[in-house]
Amino acid sequence: MERLDKFLSSRGGYSRREAQKLIKGGEVGVNGEICKIPERKLDPENDSVTCGGKTVCADEHIYIMLNKPAGVVSATEDSRDATVIDILPPELKRKGLFPAGRLDKDTEGLLIITDDGDFAHKILSPKNHIEKRYVARLDGEITEDTIRRFEQGIVFSDGTKCMPAGLEIVPGSQNSTGIVTICEGKFHQVKKMFAVCGLKVVHLQRISVGNLYIDGKLPIGSAKKLTNLDVDAIFIGKIH
Ligand code: URA
Repeated sequence: MERLDKFLSSRGGYSRREAQKLIKGGEVGVNGEICKIPERKLDPENDSVTCGGKTVCADEHIYIMLNKPAGVVSATEDSRDATVIDILPPELKRKGLFPAGRLDKDTEGLLIITDDGDFAHKILSPKNHIEKRYVARLDGEITEDTIRRFEQGIVFSDGTKCMPAGLEIVPGSQNSTGIVTICEGKFHQVKKMFAVCGLKVVHLQRISVGNLYIDGKLPIGSAKKLTNLDVDAIFIGKIH
């Protein structure tokens, strides 16, 4: 059981005080009837709550797929740039959202945004071997030697060792576009791995996390709520 004001503030993205104001102002319904008592106890699994006539999603956590555009930063707040949280549509916003991992400002593609810290840890920890796949367009040609070096594990100039990574050439790209698969997320990792091999990444897009792929119909800059099935797909073949 959970108090109505706590439920509304955690699921609706309001502060506790804002939630209490909405409740006392008659904006909030429980099972079809207006309820003005912030302390009212609810069973989130069985009671339905509305705010301003719209149903408040009762799920404890939310998982969002964002097709990140270039130009926004993977942070919750930034004094200069728009963040990936700023560009979410209002109906998906709630308190405590953060990006599960970081894409560079100029990187596009799949970014999962959630309010579930345990989940984020699970997909990010290299120990769990959740593969992240990127399409990288380069200023030169990928060679057999580049592929071999990725397979062996690239070592950065400061001695940092990367885990073995997959690299496949995209057919028809004149060897200048590759699909990179990594299980870790070091700062600027893909760009730095190619740089070690003498190549510059001119465009980078993340296409998958585990077995969850970017929805090809989701326009760049748009977001959608993931279903439980989508979230489970991330971990197919993994223990979680
Ligand atoms: N590797 C990079 O270099 N940049 C990203 O945004 C993600 C992985």
